[in-house]
Amino acid sequence: MSSAAARRNLLCGTALCTSDLSAQPLTRAILRDCNLVTPEYELKWDVIGRHPHEPDYSAADRLMAFAADNGLAFHGHTLWWHEAIPESRRANQSMDFAQAALRHLERTVARYAGRLRSWDVVNEPLEPAHGRQDGLRVSPFLAAFGPDYIETAFRAAAARDPGAILVLNEMGLEYAGPEAERKRRHMIDLLERELARGTPIACLGIQSHLTALEQPRQHPAFRAFLRTIRGMGLSVMITEMDVSDHLCPRDPRQRDRIVADTYRAYLDLVLDESRVLAVGTWGLADFSTWLNAFRPRPDGARQRPLLLDRAFRRKPAWHAVRAAFLGADNGFSAHQARS
Ligand code: XIL
Repeated sequence: MSSAAARRNLLCGTALCTSDLSAQPLTRAILRDCNLVTPEYELKWDVIGRHPHEPDYSAADRLMAFAADNGLAFHGHTLWWHEAIPESRRANQSMDFAQAALRHLERTVARYAGRLRSWDVVNEPLEPAHGRQDGLRVSPFLAAFGPDYIETAFRAAAARDPGAILVLNEMGLEYAGPEAERKRRHMIDLLERELARGTPIACLGIQSHLTALEQPRQHPAFRAFLRTIRGMGLSVMITEMDVSDHLCPRDPRQRDRIVADTYRAYLDLVLDESRVLAVGTWGLADFSTWLNAFRPRPDGARQRPLLLDRAFRRKPAWHAVRAAFLGADNGFSAHQARS
């Protein structure tokens, strides 16, 4: 897989957690298919900061060591996210919070400086439903620093690891409908504002948690958005791709077929329009997907949203992603799935 991605000059990889490191078939598959890993949750502030006075980097260090020992690039996820704030910090949104948030960011970036490729510095900054003119999400970071918090975070990260690719990561930019269109417009305005004031954002992270049978194949509005992003001189990273099958029929072969087509159509579009640095899936094998908790199927069947099945066998999705990297003819047939 990673050799196919290299043809497009991009890295490909998966989210990972320390419990995965003891799953041999999974680590073998990661080393075979990936050249990039992203910590699924163990590099987030709420995990590192769960003991108020003693930051705990032990799990993150193990993931970093696994990557370094195996020549894998490491994508840091994530420094500031409203859903990953330590319990002890959620209550106060005063100066203490601002100092604590900045101290966490500076210490964490300094700790891994020169050893990781890229950082999701700020995650999910936009929430138009919060009603602000600028579309910014109302969060403890906004409350503590004001709308300049994005510039503050990126400048602090750049100062401590000038070599890292700094990414602004967001969800929902890739969806259809008026809400997604509003978010795309806010994102363009936000990026124009930040770049104009010199905020060192190099790349836009597009999470890409897709839904089969909902994600449009032809998506002119998203295509136009990606062109605008490219026109701004920004690269793109697909940071957390998976395809939820909760709207699909129960039959696994049918589901896998629809999920694979969703991956292929989406990747064809993004690779066509953007300077893509990397493609990351939010897990590699179905057994570990967060979607069984976050987006359970109404019929109770387990989700099949990733590239390998529960026995680590390659699914049609694996072939579809590889074919997209190779720009192969989309006449992809079920026959290949069995080969
Ligand atoms: C999720 C993880 O997959 C879960 O294990 C964890 O409990 C919560 O976070 N957007 C993000 C990711 O940016 O960090 C989230 O990951 C999924 C949505």
